[in-house]
Amino acid sequence: MEKLFQPFSIKGLKIKNRICVPPMVCYNWVKDDGYVVPKNVEHYRAIAKGGFGLIIQEATCVDTDGKLSRDQLGIWEDGQIAGLKRIVDAVHREGCPIFLQIHHAGVNGCQEHLLCPSDYEFHTNGAKRIGHEMTPEDIKKVQAEFVQAAVRACEAGYDGVELHGCHSYLMCEFFNSRVNLRTDEYGLHPEKFALEILEEIRKQTPKDFIVGIRLGAFEPKLSDGIRHAQILEQHGIDFLDISYGFSGEDEPEAPKDFPYKDVIYAAGEIKKHVSVPVFAVNSITNAQMAEDILNRTGVDMADIGRGVLVNYNWANDAREGKDTGRCLNCKVCRWREDSDKCAGRILLNRRKQK
Ligand SMILES: Cc1cc2nc3c(=O)[nH]c(=O)nc-3n(C[C@H](O)[C@H](O)[C@H](O)COP(=O)(O)O)c2cc1C
Ligand code: SF4
Repeated sequence: MEKLFQPFSIKGLKIKNRICVPPMVCYNWVKDDGYVVPKNVEHYRAIAKGGFGLIIQEATCVDTDGKLSRDQLGIWEDGQIAGLKRIVDAVHREGCPIFLQIHHAGVNGCQEHLLCPSDYEFHTNGAKRIGHEMTPEDIKKVQAEFVQAAVRACEAGYDGVELHGCHSYLMCEFFNSRVNLRTDEYGLHPEKFALEILEEIRKQTPKDFIVGIRLGAFEPKLSDGIRHAQILEQHGIDFLDISYGFSGEDEPEAPKDFPYKDVIYAAGEIKKHVSVPVFAVNSITNAQMAEDILNRTGVDMADIGRGVLVNYNWANDAREGKDTGRCLNCKVCRWREDSDKCAGRILLNRRKQK
């Protein structure tokens, strides 16, 4: 595990190893008001004790109209800062840095009136969602909300923010030319929406505040993902966390003999074209695999998602050569049920008790 436990830094921020906890929404904990509850604080405190190099906190909404689910954490008003600060303080006390993922769901939201760069019918999980073309005023308003969210995150003490730019949500919708059919500057330059937010956050936060993005690799093709990454780097993005883009409007690709997910291959290809840190994610199930991915693709960080829901102590266990557990793909967490019912966690705990 030579590379996995090698220290690293992003813009001077010390990161003790290459294992990152990617954003994962905890459903059923937060009320409609989006305010942090004690369970959120304990969740992140417990993960921070688990030895990870970096935590990126779950998608936290910049506007009540942009929620992905009713029970999502929010950062749309100043009153929410104090609760978020409690998470930051708990995580920092364990010696772990933390970024906040800031998010707007766009057409993939749960409200009645859904925004999208242009009119769009989104079919997902058997449901149809209608996206309404944003006016120039809508665009300015949501951009300002992202900027205010980043300023609040900075005030709460986060080491940085991650713009949620993938997984069929609003920023992703701008990047994907099959979803964004606008004929104005925001359609001709699909990166413009994100770049203007980045630029304004820079103006309103201190120099050392980190701003990265979770970016779709195939938007719709890998060549688009690479181009977006390069443009973001030219405009000063601090890291690129590479995942899937707009579902159903993407063309994933990887050589047949590549042993991991196509999106991990894509992260490696993007890394060849940029010099900022790149993170890879999806179905990394054990430390050997993470180490091999770092060496094979040249990416800088490996995200362990569901593995962490199974085992909060994943990184410490990996370092000590212990059983890190395994996601059994029961989908309890995906079905938005309480993660305390995680089948992989129950099985691992049973094995540990023996
Ligand atoms: C319960 C759950 C919630 C998630 N919430 C988010 C989120 O808030 N933001 C995000 O970018 N990805 C989210 N994801 C995706 C994960 O960050 C990760 O990309 C995905 O689970 C694949 O990684 P894994 O195979 O290591 O789990 C979520 C995934 C799960 C299982
Ligand atoms: S075992 Fe089930 S609940 Fe646990 S992480 Fe995997 S899919 Fe989610």
